[in-house]
Amino acid sequence: MSRRGRLRLAVLISGRGSNMLALAEACSSGRVDAQIVLVLSDRPEAAGLRSAAALGLPTAVIERTADRSGFENALSAAIEASGADLVLLAGFMRVLSAQFVQRHAGRVLNIHPSLLPKFKGLHTHERALAARESEHGASVHLVTAELDGGPVLCQASVPVRADDTAESLAARVLEQEHRLYPLAVQLLAAGRVELTATGIRLDGQPLRAPLRLADATHA
Ligand code: GRF
Repeated sequence: MSRRGRLRLAVLISGRGSNMLALAEACSSGRVDAQIVLVLSDRPEAAGLRSAAALGLPTAVIERTADRSGFENALSAAIEASGADLVLLAGFMRVLSAQFVQRHAGRVLNIHPSLLPKFKGLHTHERALAARESEHGASVHLVTAELDGGPVLCQASVPVRADDTAESLAARVLEQEHRLYPLAVQLLAAGRVELTATGIRLDGQPLRAPLRLADATHA
């Protein structure tokens, strides 16, 4: 990823957009040396679109059609026109094809509400409770052709409590997500993390294990 000036972010959402808002806040407060150049949703009704517009961020809607490659080409065109260096999936509920991933190789991150490789896919909080996990959390990972399967850059964990419901656990994890995604982006903005098509480097060395939030804070 080569660039001049502040890191330019395209954030892809499908719903509430709280991670997008956490990123926007981190950029505007200067905690993250980046700027959001596009908030893109596949759903016109996404609440996050209205929040982004209220902040004066550029927004776009590209609705999914039966023609998947047409949809993805339109997404790519909007991303490329925005001049984004980095594409951040933040509750974007479409699985992207290998072709899309290849076109943007090493430039797409996702935030997933589990400690990957545990609980890929949906309903992660319910599944963590059913599995009687004592710890749960969120991961920021590089997007590859394998769903939720790319190398993990960083993670934040929370304890699972005996009286947790999926909702209470989700809320505790979400709080950590709002810290974790900006930290991940700042590591990139500061030039400490480098993404390639297949891997992640930290300070010039291949990243051997995901950073944990406390580590990421002090990295
Ligand atoms: C988050 O839990 C994120 O990890 C998952 O989808 C949810 C999106 O929430 N991929 P929001 O739209 O950012 O509020």
